[in-house]
Amino acid sequence: MKILFLGDIVGRPGRHAIRDLLADVIAGNNIDLVLANGENAAGGFGISKAVAEELFSYGIAALTLGNHTWDNKSIIEIIDEEKRIIRPLNYNSDVPGRGWTLLKWKTHNIALINFIGQVFMNGNNSPFDIFDQYIEEIKKNVEIIIIDFHGEATGEKLAFAHYVDGKVSAVLGTHTHVQTSDNRILPKGTAYITDLGMCGACDSILGMEVESVIKRFKTQIPERYKIKNDGFYKLEGAIIEIDEETGSTQCINKIRIYNK
Ligand SMILES: [Fe+2]
Ligand SMILES: [Fe+2]
Repeated sequence: MKILFLGDIVGRPGRHAIRDLLADVIAGNNIDLVLANGENAAGGFGISKAVAEELFSYGIAALTLGNHTWDNKSIIEIIDEEKRIIRPLNYNSDVPGRGWTLLKWKTHNIALINFIGQVFMNGNNSPFDIFDQYIEEIKKNVEIIIIDFHGEATGEKLAFAHYVDGKVSAVLGTHTHVQTSDNRILPKGTAYITDLGMCGACDSILGMEVESVIKRFKTQIPERYKIKNDGFYKLEGAIIEIDEETGSTQCINKIRIYNK
């Protein structure tokens, strides 16, 4: 089967990239399942019920989150019931929501897990220890395991991917919004990319208006970034091809599509 995983969806331009470009990518590549990171989908900060429903309507099956999980407080009202939205598994155990979810494709079970890093990211539990705690439970009756590792540090993402190599189908990095070119199959068969990139405005800084970001760096005065919205956007992610009987991954190709 073929799974397309999209990098962080940033604001309305990111959602419009999905709305306008996803159908052709699905049809042109025979995609069976689409997953995405939605932590910036609502105005750049978090996700709401309406925004999630919009993304599901475009064909996304499930959404992962990250350090912006709680930016839009309305998520707390739905995250316990909505099985298609997950937050990092290595948050503390009394945090609302779930860190992994089960998806179905034909007769196959797919587990989607979300982890967040500890390097340059505050106060999260060890993704290594939490993986070890949960993996036996998660892999019951599951052929395919896909991990979104939401992290800042490339070394941490690589270390985690090698730690779980051979035990999961893919470790796909998110959070930096900058797509890396290191997509490959690791020695024991797990597909890997350090960062999938983003779906959002092209002439921007990580999806935000250039001027507002420069001003903040120059003045050091906290000010909310503004979403860049000039009608020029892109869709970025990776397509992984998996043997659904064994869960082993045959290839991983990154994609980047512009709307003009
Ligand atoms: Fe993030
Ligand atoms: Fe992000």
